[in-house]
Amino acid sequence: MISDQLIQVMKAAQTVVVLTGAGVSAESGVPTFRDALTGLWENFDPMQLATPEAFQANPKLVWDWYASRREMLSAVKPNAGHYALAALEKLYPYFYLVTQNVDSLHQAAGSKTVIELHGNLQRVCCFNKTHVAESWDDSTGVPTCATCGELLRPDVVWFGEMLPEQAIETAFTVSEAADVFISIGTSAEVQPAASLPVYALRGGATFIEINPDATTLTNRADFVLPYPSGEVLPALVAALG
Ligand code: OAD
Repeated sequence: MISDQLIQVMKAAQTVVVLTGAGVSAESGVPTFRDALTGLWENFDPMQLATPEAFQANPKLVWDWYASRREMLSAVKPNAGHYALAALEKLYPYFYLVTQNVDSLHQAAGSKTVIELHGNLQRVCCFNKTHVAESWDDSTGVPTCATCGELLRPDVVWFGEMLPEQAIETAFTVSEAADVFISIGTSAEVQPAASLPVYALRGGATFIEINPDATTLTNRADFVLPYPSGEVLPALVAALG
């Protein structure tokens, strides 16, 4: 599964950047977005659930959908892939885990340097993201912000919204400096996250992709590991000894 050449590259690296997507949480039972049949965006219309306009048009529908996802996430646990990434972090002086996931499973597995590009579903804020709410009561409808009175919403990035500025700036900076860049469980369909491997390649990194299916980035990868991340990541950590 892991070639000697790949192990040599990993052993020589000082700066490792990992980009994760929904696929890394699939083995925890969290649905991905674009996988056939089970993908969230195969079954729900993102334009009705994941845009600021959708929230303004029907806040209750959007709030309730994210509330049900939050409840579902409260029952899931990190899988072997998440734990292997936490172990991998300990092997490198410079290790950055950039994630598109909003499920907190990397942190739950013990990863320390997690850069969240698309926010976090557990966090709730006012519509313009100025204030974070510590608690809320949604028993009688969509709650409002105690500070500004705006409706509260999940602190995630919707289509058409900017990514958190510091997170994306840091992600680009560390990607350009990477010796090794590993893209795991992402279809690489969504920008700007999908550009990070390209920046890493320009900076001279070795690019590794872990995904059972081919993506738009597969033909640019130096190493392709077409297996579930929950299998290949523990094998990689074991091989690095
Ligand atoms: P996608 O659903 O687009 O892609 C998931 C990828 O995971 C696919 O390429 C699968 O082949 C792969 N996959 C499935 N099971 C896997 C496994 N066990 N191990 C490894 N890979 C596996 O999800 P993302 O690329 O994360 O944005 O989607 C990016 C963004 O689009 C999300 O963050 C979300 C969505 O709209 C927001 O909500 C802002």
